[in-house]
Amino acid sequence: MTVPIGIHDISMATGQYAMDLAELARRNDVDVNKYYIGLGQTTQTVPAADEDIVTMAAAAAKQIVAKHGVDGIRTVLFATESGIDQSKSAAIYVQDLIGLSSATRAVELKQACYGGTSALQLAAGIVARDPEQRVLVIASDIAKYDVDSSGESTQGAAAVAMLISANPNLAVIDETVGLYTAHVQDFWRPNYRSTPLVDGGLSVRAYLEAVEQAWKDYESRGGRSVTEFAGFCYHQPFTKMAYKAHTRLLELKGIDATEARLYADLSPTTIYNRAIGNSYTASLFVGLMSLLDHAEDLDGRSVALFSYGSGCVAELFSLTMVDGYREHLRTVENRAAIAHREPITYEKYRALREFALPEDGSDVTLDATSRSPFRLTSISGHSRIYEASH
Ligand code: CAA
Repeated sequence: MTVPIGIHDISMATGQYAMDLAELARRNDVDVNKYYIGLGQTTQTVPAADEDIVTMAAAAAKQIVAKHGVDGIRTVLFATESGIDQSKSAAIYVQDLIGLSSATRAVELKQACYGGTSALQLAAGIVARDPEQRVLVIASDIAKYDVDSSGESTQGAAAVAMLISANPNLAVIDETVGLYTAHVQDFWRPNYRSTPLVDGGLSVRAYLEAVEQAWKDYESRGGRSVTEFAGFCYHQPFTKMAYKAHTRLLELKGIDATEARLYADLSPTTIYNRAIGNSYTASLFVGLMSLLDHAEDLDGRSVALFSYGSGCVAELFSLTMVDGYREHLRTVENRAAIAHREPITYEKYRALREFALPEDGSDVTLDATSRSPFRLTSISGHSRIYEASH
């Protein structure tokens, strides 16, 4: 009998500040319901100047090692599309900050927002080969678009850390998956840019096409039918996208996509992302955490997850919840991470945007503003210096 492999623990972190989209609506002179209802977003996380993908990742991962220790963790897979270095993996900073053994494989993975799912599947493969090992998977991103662009309303930031192991406490990763890759220029960020180039309309169409194609592949490989799932989690660049995607799926299956059906299937998975905004690689897993923290008991039930990364790669996979999984959730901490963000005005957001680390990499010391357990303190000799703040 093969040993079940899956998510043993999952934790999250987000940034210091939250801007209500009413602030952006005021700036853009649009009806705020375009954001609240049209996109399904209420606030967006804005990181402090001394926060980045590493500080959020370490803050999420710290919760996992505090509970489970570091024994058996020999691999850290760090998925991101807002990397801080073209060569060195962000996983090494996390390995150091949270005190993992030097006998660790630490790497960074990239394929837009899909990277977290690739890390999860690679981790499952590593554990299948040696079930004594546990793999730390991290998805951490800051979604940042050009000021005054249409993507600005979908910005956000978060990190999710997951411990992948044999005989997991939370959920088993099911083996059947549906895959789809197509060369599409819907969203990309060339090396010389700090913000992406986006064809918004094309990106929505490409996402919906990927839903259809990934399901087709999933079904051709003997996957479950739509009606067998107790929950649906989608990558959420904005939460309304999950509604568009699920409508497409239900219609494809000849199921009436009524408002009541869509709301029942999706509303628990969108609560956290509505408040955080897009967190690229982390978004799907923030959606999963939102579902687990708000759904009725899913013991023994399966949840479908749809991962989409622009460019594009998509994967449909599923998790089967382990009996008693609810005892292992971090609902209080997750809600607190979101609720404890400090509200800021549009003007404060712009001031934070305008502050940028020197492009020539010259030395700089950052004010201590973040309440995160880890801070970026300075750039010195072209190196990023982090510290554990408490
Ligand atoms: N009340 C209620 N709804 C309103 C409204 C009002 N007063 N005013 C407008 N709306 C609705 C519109 O009808 C529209 O809804 P539908 O799409 O359901 O018709 C919605 O609000 C948004 O309106 P627009 O399309 O006019 O908005 P926009 O021009 O600002 O662009 C966007 C929206 C293209 C998503 C843009 O935010 C964008 O480019 N975002 C970045 C790219 C993105 O997120 N793409 C998603 C797929 S790609 C992906 O998933 C990868 C990733 O993470 C980036």
